[in-house]
Amino acid sequence: MRTNIVLIGFMGAGKTSVAKLLARKLEKKVVSSDQEIVKKTGKSIATIFTVEGEKHFRDLEKQTIAKISQRNNCIIDCGGGVVLNEENIALLKEKGTVVYLETSPEEIYERLKSETQRPLLNTAEPKQQIKKLFKDRRGLYEKAADATIVTDRKSLQMIVEEIEQFLTRRIS
Ligand code: S3P
Repeated sequence: MRTNIVLIGFMGAGKTSVAKLLARKLEKKVVSSDQEIVKKTGKSIATIFTVEGEKHFRDLEKQTIAKISQRNNCIIDCGGGVVLNEENIALLKEKGTVVYLETSPEEIYERLKSETQRPLLNTAEPKQQIKKLFKDRRGLYEKAADATIVTDRKSLQMIVEEIEQFLTRRIS
């Protein structure tokens, strides 16, 4: 039985906040791929990117997904780049329904413009970088998704309700 709900989407899409509220409502546990990496290494995501590089981070992310994807009854809050490796998605789908939180690049920029904890956006032109990454990844998110929920201009409660409605429709 697929009892996990897997949240994917770009940085700033609201995956972590949605995961917490959804978990409370559905009485499931939250597990975050980034938090598991931080726990395992004792380092922040930003430090891993700066000191060891993105390739090393992606290897850690892959190992982490292999482990957490096999749990049951969890809301899995995935880092935005989890779709870059299709093995991650295949594993997550074994026990989970994948929900894509779709957010426009404009809204992502507004939400993250004063953030410092997203190493991939630590560039001179974060707006351009968001547009480029979004263009590269959009198709991957869409392909992985069992459901897509548009989050622009919606409250957390509205987003969680839409996910619940999708889950109810799917069961009945
Ligand atoms: C990343 C997203 C981040 C984190 C890392 C890389 C990405 O997670 O995993 O900085 O490649 O999109 P959030 O999506 O939770 O910000």
